[in-house]
Amino acid sequence: MKKILVIGSANVDFSVQTSYFPEAGETMLGEALMIQMGGKGNNQAVAASRLGGEVSMIAAIGQDLWGEQLLANWQEEKDNTTGVIARPEATGTAHITVAGGDNAIIVIPGANHHLQMHQINEQMALIDEADIVVLQLEIPLETVMSLIELLDEKGKIIILDPAPAQALPLALIEKCTYLTPNEGELEKLFKGPAEEVLAKYPQQVLLTKGKDGAYYHDGDKVVHIPSPAVTVVDTTGAGDTFAGALAVALAEEQPLKAAVQFAVRSASLACRKLGAQAGMPKRDDLEEWCEQ
Ligand code: RIB
Ligand code: NA
Repeated sequence: MKKILVIGSANVDFSVQTSYFPEAGETMLGEALMIQMGGKGNNQAVAASRLGGEVSMIAAIGQDLWGEQLLANWQEEKDNTTGVIARPEATGTAHITVAGGDNAIIVIPGANHHLQMHQINEQMALIDEADIVVLQLEIPLETVMSLIELLDEKGKIIILDPAPAQALPLALIEKCTYLTPNEGELEKLFKGPAEEVLAKYPQQVLLTKGKDGAYYHDGDKVVHIPSPAVTVVDTTGAGDTFAGALAVALAEEQPLKAAVQFAVRSASLACRKLGAQAGMPKRDDLEEWCEQ
């Protein structure tokens, strides 16, 4: 099986569940508070290892209580943490309001915004060992851009989840083996209608559309992978689960259609619980559920 490396963010998520989103100036009561490990990079790594991937992580955390909890979490999830860098800044945090299955997130990046190329270069052994590298956009953009160049030169399979939505040079994103935007992210990156973008980048751009599943072009036609019906509690982390699961399926050399299906199903299951990681399926859960 191919080896997966996730390079990216790690946060601690403070998720509050409420019946509706508060307005400016409003004080309201929430229903539940949950403190969980999160951050897009971390979520991708955890999703991949729960599904059976062999996963290493390069991330920047603070030397604080939350940094310790993140390390403990990765160890529990059996992710290799030798590439995790301790920084003087605080560990990243995300402040999430969940209402009616929807969410609003404020991220305080802290240490994540200090993950620089010179620190990553010290982890070259991890990069050289990896076959598939998963990236997102919650660390400095210069770092992501340099990484894409480096990974492309090294011939790695690159999965870029372009979240949160940001613009990037087209010549650079074309170097990614797979891109997993949602509609808003696709718009930000390519500035054209989704159908044209999919046709221009067959088997490369995998568009995720929430409960409508995912779409890509196979060179011939657009392929739609529908998502199974689940009771949605919280979609936080669904995109991360998609990217992490995709990495696992590709590590197992599943054909693209099966890989996207595996990713769509995993992401759907992840939406059944409050918090990014709480609902992420283990491989057994996914297989059992698929048999039903
Ligand atoms: O994609 C979900 C993640 O976005 C959360 O875990 C939060 O930390 C934010 O980074
Ligand atoms: Na969830």
